[in-house]
Amino acid sequence: MSPLEVQHLRDDTPGCQSGIVHFNHAGASLPSQATLDAIVDQLQREARDGPMEAGEHGAVLVEKARRAAGQLLNAPASSIAFTSSGSTAWSMAFQALGPWQPGDRILVGRHEWGGNLASMQVALQAGARVEVIPCDETGAVCPQALETMIDARVKLIDLTWLPANGGLINPAQAIGEVARRHGIAYFIDAGQAVGQMPVDVQALHCDVLKSAGRKHLRGPRGTALLYVRPDFLPRLNPPQRDVLSAPWTEEGFDLRDDARRFETSEASYALLAGLGNALQEANRLGVERTWERVLQISGHIRQALREMPGISLHDLGTQHSGLIAFNLDGWDAFELKRRLGLKRINIGANGVAYTPLDMQARGLESIARISVSPLNTEHDVELLMAALRELRG
Ligand SMILES: Cc1ncc(COP(=O)(O)O)c(C=O)c1O
Repeated sequence: MSPLEVQHLRDDTPGCQSGIVHFNHAGASLPSQATLDAIVDQLQREARDGPMEAGEHGAVLVEKARRAAGQLLNAPASSIAFTSSGSTAWSMAFQALGPWQPGDRILVGRHEWGGNLASMQVALQAGARVEVIPCDETGAVCPQALETMIDARVKLIDLTWLPANGGLINPAQAIGEVARRHGIAYFIDAGQAVGQMPVDVQALHCDVLKSAGRKHLRGPRGTALLYVRPDFLPRLNPPQRDVLSAPWTEEGFDLRDDARRFETSEASYALLAGLGNALQEANRLGVERTWERVLQISGHIRQALREMPGISLHDLGTQHSGLIAFNLDGWDAFELKRRLGLKRINIGANGVAYTPLDMQARGLESIARISVSPLNTEHDVELLMAALRELRG
């Protein structure tokens, strides 16, 4: 990506004009002006023409968004549902895989998102067991170890592909090959992957994949997408239904035969119009190019952090994403985030709750997190490093 292209992206992004330096794209990234306009335009239509009356226009935009999401993930549009959060998307698919029976086994990576583990409580209450797939020597989920765990009681393999607490990229495709060979349901939490790196649901062999809209996709808060493989859809029986997910027919309420069985008839068309615009922008820019730029900038940051005394980096695995977890000697991660915030530099900080199994296994209480996007410049990196040096003293 040329410096001129980056400049164009930044010119089109209000958050790049406001004087903040944003390194919290894994928390939520900065929407473009066009995404903001798409949201406001739909809200104005609703206020002007009547909220339900503006719904016809809104529905067209939602279908556009669905096609754009399908294009991004290499999936048919009909396999995409929109929901209000990544955790909701995951939880709905998980509950729909029930009923859970005593003895059912759920195999998870050690880096599993805390919200997904929280959702699994319903299965645990029914007598199912959650078991952690061992990691290899680099700290990534080990497909060979998974292979040895498989038996007839494994009902789900679940992987958080790019964990929230660092740069690890788990071997999602190799895990998918094990799942497919044994005919076991395979869910991927791709909340930190979608929009940051290429995601091809066919190559991954996943049955379900989900992501929030607000992170690397640069969509608005309160949006998420859920992919369900069409052949797998009949295995999912959502407990929550309404007149959209199960429309009235001559035979009574009939569950939809596409991913919209996970949607609700009432939704924010404005936010989905914004998400649709963000998805189209991501496709236009090309996610391969986004990924290339993310790797370039995060590589520079990692190098600079390695050279800085007092920093410990917490990357696992061999290949790293644009999420960089670290601690600065003598600093609480949340306090460091707050103090950088006072300098108008945004980073993230995570405690144990978001990735409890991994944080506990590594004895980490909290980590500071820098996450990058093609919107970031080398100048941003210099400002961040200078601020860290200053705070380190
Ligand atoms: C890997 C992963 N999964 C899920 C989530 C949560 O998504 P949401 O807040 O939309 O429920 C996050 C958020 O940080 C995440 O990093």
